Amino acid sequence: MNQSALVTGSHSQLARCMAMADSPPGWRGNFWPRGELDITDTQQLEAVLTETNPNCVINTAAYTAVDRAESEADQAWRVNAEGVANLADWCAAHGARLIHISTDFVFDGRGKTPYSPEAEPAPLGAYGASKLAGEREVVKLPPGQGIIVRTSWLYSEFGNNFVKTMLKLMAERDELSVVGDQTGCPTSAHSLAALVWKIVCVPARSGLYHWHDGGEMSWFEFAREIQKLGTAAGALSRKIPLQPIAAAAYPTAAVRPAYSAMDRSRTLEHYGMPERDWRAELIRVVSALAGRSAGQ
Ligand SMILES: NC(=O)c1ccc[n+]([C@@H]2O[C@H](COP(=O)([O-])OP(=O)(O)OC[C@H]3O[C@@H](n4cnc5c(N)ncnc54)[C@H](OP(=O)(O)O)[C@@H]3O)[C@@H](O)[C@H]2O)c1
Repeated sequence: MNQSALVTGSHSQLARCMAMADSPPGWRGNFWPRGELDITDTQQLEAVLTETNPNCVINTAAYTAVDRAESEADQAWRVNAEGVANLADWCAAHGARLIHISTDFVFDGRGKTPYSPEAEPAPLGAYGASKLAGEREVVKLPPGQGIIVRTSWLYSEFGNNFVKTMLKLMAERDELSVVGDQTGCPTSAHSLAALVWKIVCVPARSGLYHWHDGGEMSWFEFAREIQKLGTAAGALSRKIPLQPIAAAAYPTAAVRPAYSAMDRSRTLEHYGMPERDWRAELIRVVSALAGRSAGQ
């Protein structure tokens, strides 16, 4: 009989990519949207989890509006800290595993070399602080039951993300300025989905892991690649000039880390993940988006 993996936040970029990929042999994905499983609603959560009795819970649900979180810190906390505590409590009581997704925004960005999973977190804003509080709930689970995967600059053909925003602006504007002094690593939600399914199949590990697609770059450099590969894939029909600007010239409600590359070597080693080629991942997503706009 198949084991079941319950996935929260089924409309998230990650959950949608997990649903597109084949679940591993012996496992069945069981996807729940916020409307039917709100992780902050303890009664609903208890009822759904007890009825479905999953072997593993995968939490992709999150409050992800980084800038809005500065003025809605309570709401971010309720989902990213208290909601995760609710899931961790249920998993602890029922012996289920919890795979939880966190973020590079737990770091302050003062580093100069990729952050190891043990590096001291020091979030700069309300979103990062709420995500760190969620991590601490998962860490409390008994050995072998809780895994946290920190990822960064997540994108896909779904939802809201930097790649989709850039393609839209590059189609609408005559020129574009993009922040050139913040460095990180893009991650395709498809590559993260492949990792999460792999983690599901390997029990007995717990703790912190980092995941991205291997390319370290600024937002400006990422935008240039989106333009180049987006044009080749047919997602863009013209090439506008791009300018790098300083983050200070583009103020946002939330301060972002200046450097947030993370060391993913433990993940590569423990899960035998193939080195992903970040360009191939980006081509996959811009090609899907080009196909979508051609079909409109
Ligand atoms: N996006 C990034 O760049 C990035 C970077 C690093 C880490 N991460 C982390 O990666 C994970 C997946 O991110 P993503 O970009 O795939 O997420 P996303 O597309 O922003 O989706 C988040 C989902 O969570 C759902 N949700 C919000 N509150 C909920 C609640 N109380 N109960 C149940 N579901 C709730 C939302 O439901 P609705 O659809 O109904 O709104 C939405 O479908 C998150 O943990 C995020 O923090 C993301």
